Amino acid sequence: MPDIHCIGICTGGGDAPGLNAVIRAAVKAAILQHNWKVIGIPDGFDGLIWLERSHELTLKDVSGILPRGGTILGTTNRGNPFKYKIVENGREVERDISDQVIANAAKLGIDATISIGGDGSMKIAQELFLKGTRIVGVPKTIDNDLSATEVTFGFDTALHTATDAVDKIHTTGESHHRVMVVEVMGRDAGWIALEAGMAGGAHIILIPEIPFTIAKICECMAMRERYGKHFTIIVLAEGIKLPPELKENRRAGAVGNLIGNAIAHRSHKEVRVSVLGHIQRGGSPSPYDRILATRFGVAAVDLIAAGGFGKMVCLQQESIRAVNFADAVGRMKSVDPNGEIVRTARAIGISFGD
Ligand code: F6P
Repeated sequence: MPDIHCIGICTGGGDAPGLNAVIRAAVKAAILQHNWKVIGIPDGFDGLIWLERSHELTLKDVSGILPRGGTILGTTNRGNPFKYKIVENGREVERDISDQVIANAAKLGIDATISIGGDGSMKIAQELFLKGTRIVGVPKTIDNDLSATEVTFGFDTALHTATDAVDKIHTTGESHHRVMVVEVMGRDAGWIALEAGMAGGAHIILIPEIPFTIAKICECMAMRERYGKHFTIIVLAEGIKLPPELKENRRAGAVGNLIGNAIAHRSHKEVRVSVLGHIQRGGSPSPYDRILATRFGVAAVDLIAAGGFGKMVCLQQESIRAVNFADAVGRMKSVDPNGEIVRTARAIGISFGD
């Protein structure tokens, strides 16, 4: 068993509902189970560059944060200590300041660190581990696209937010006989679009994993018209691959607007587009996310106590387990276009525009 007296904890990458629940659980377990001191490292690893910014987290500090969105520690997706961006002679350059970060953690008395983050944060954790740092990981992302864990916390809350939006858009779309396009997040994976689309009763779902055409989308809308449905709800993922005729315009704005314009042009229907954006990352975590985040936080502390460094906690077959960083990073989980969920959606008439 490693000799631990003090642990550090940091949150990196885009925030996700449930980060505070992990911090709270880890702080409580560290103090109540092991009597360890806990240091909160602000803004990813930035708090180890400027030491004075890191501070002790007590039970009092984590009281009341369970239902709060965001992260009390702050976060950044620009804080990779191996490729730290600084301005030198008016030019932005990348420097490896990992040695400084490791030395500063030692100065703070940190014996082991919990890094909570997505794939990028886990890559950094893996590199720090390879340099001898005692570190464990907790996965987070609303995108639910990490293959090493069945679910990441944050996804369920984002799904609730997106589904609620689709429900609301449904009623106004139906009243006005319009085509309503809802763009959701998810990076290169279609999980939020697929599940919010299904849960919200969308008629067409567009995801990065299934190529589509504007013609097929309009065919589906025309079929709905034929049986008396004069409105259509389309949920699309921000990461969809554009059909060839639209590709050149990718940079012109949110992808939902491009698709919305193309549909309006071809079908002559009235189209409205809603881009949900960061609303999906905010808000109070759902009960599911609070519980998963709490389980992950306690498991990370258990992992440190057992000396399981270089590993990330995960959910597999309903149980909390741990995988090596090496087996977790860079392995993304996409929607299976031939999988059961897509087949279920197709069986009830949902079109994927293909
Ligand atoms: O990975 C989470 C996520 O919200 C993605 O769904 C989205 O593409 C991205 O982060 C947005 O990042 P940012 O907050 O940097 O704009």
